[in-house]
Amino acid sequence: MPRLVVVSNRVGIPDGGTRAGGLEVAIRPALKRRGGIWFGWSGKITDSDPGPAKTTVQENVSYVTIDMRRDDHEEFYNGFANRVLWPILHYRLDLAEFSRRDLGGYFRVNEHFARNLEEMLRPDDVVWVHDYHLIPLAKALRERGHKNRIGFFLHIPCPPPEILTALPNHERLMPALGAYDLIGLQTETDASNMCRYFESECRVRGLGGGLYDFDGRNVRVGVYPVGVETEPFARLARRAIETAFVREVVDSLAGRAMLIGVDRLDYSKGIPERLNAFERFLANFPDWRGKVTYLQITPRSRTSIAEYADIGRLVGETAGRINGRFGEASWTPLRYINKAHSRTALAGLYRAARVALVTPLRDGMNLVAKEYVAAQNPDDPGVLVLSRFAGAAHECAAALLVNPYDPEGVGAAINRALSMPLEERRERHAQNYRVLAQNDLTRWAERFLAALEQGAAPAPVRLVARGAAAH
Ligand code: F6P
Repeated sequence: MPRLVVVSNRVGIPDGGTRAGGLEVAIRPALKRRGGIWFGWSGKITDSDPGPAKTTVQENVSYVTIDMRRDDHEEFYNGFANRVLWPILHYRLDLAEFSRRDLGGYFRVNEHFARNLEEMLRPDDVVWVHDYHLIPLAKALRERGHKNRIGFFLHIPCPPPEILTALPNHERLMPALGAYDLIGLQTETDASNMCRYFESECRVRGLGGGLYDFDGRNVRVGVYPVGVETEPFARLARRAIETAFVREVVDSLAGRAMLIGVDRLDYSKGIPERLNAFERFLANFPDWRGKVTYLQITPRSRTSIAEYADIGRLVGETAGRINGRFGEASWTPLRYINKAHSRTALAGLYRAARVALVTPLRDGMNLVAKEYVAAQNPDDPGVLVLSRFAGAAHECAAALLVNPYDPEGVGAAINRALSMPLEERRERHAQNYRVLAQNDLTRWAERFLAALEQGAAPAPVRLVARGAAAH
């Protein structure tokens, strides 16, 4: 089997602390099963020369990381990746702040990654590049003569060409995807948007079945919805609910039903809109006052970017307003926490929560939704309230699907979730769980790598579980 080299901006170095992001949750088990190299940024910023890459070997994986110079970090990460690509790919043209200098920094860091990779790549390595930070990486490697199979997976949404073309210099950036052998996207919608862009803007010839001819190179576009470790996570949740930490949280509820939300503090997650919906719920369904506690866990993220500070302020103010309006000396409706929690703690909290609120305005997949389903007790499961604009809505079709822009509707869905009869909860949970047990993380990585290595069309995604109840 050829060696696997995974490349991403963040690297999940073991013992690197508690991280909130979906990418690390997804890659680490896939790479551990197969062994290989994980290359990327160490997470450290330096004012001097970053020096050579550092390697940490653990079992069958070598974690190879480089530090980033302060100006690179500002222009590449804070700048083009997170002030331009992130908002635009999440359909938020209003938040994009383009500068030519940042675009230059983005290409420079991709070149720097390619230079470092050059020293370690063997001709038969299979290279798997992750996410929007590294769109031009394969092109930079091809220009250095590397002929390896190189795949790219976009963890976040791909908007329609009508939005993508508003990205200044998109014609310099997006066609660089033609240097990959395989481009993986989360959903059919994302893949068809990418195909439409290739056809209308790059004018490449479609060969059918998601295959495109980029100047004589065959590039395939496929759908690979990223999964979670469904069964291991279910086992973890069964153990975690017995831990002292989760017991303490449950005891502190004094018999009230818990609603839970877990998100990085990011405007794409729809947190202020969700809090407003919770406020509507309390206003429109007064019988629930004093009987529910909403726990919102929201680790801070990308803190040096102004839009993230703004959203932090807005969420803090909204939480304060709701507690001020509805709280009692003996009851706080909303617990808003910025601390990151361990996977075990989250697994236990998910299992203890009657309802999960996962209502992003736009999300590539959202693994919190999938982990919540995995963590439930099938005999007495909680209810997932899920945004129709999360990639996970395709597989978790038995969740209560909501429009996150409609606070009345989300408020009504919270009431419906809390009042749902046991039989309906069981059916909905069983249907979602069966799909997630089939399309789990192992299958995601295997489908992608098989298609990358063999150049074949991907195996189909299973969106309807065999024997699932109809809804
Ligand atoms: O969801 C997109 C994503 O890049 C994840 O893949 C990642 O784990 C998360 O955002 C965290 O972002 P950052 O690396 O900027 O902290």
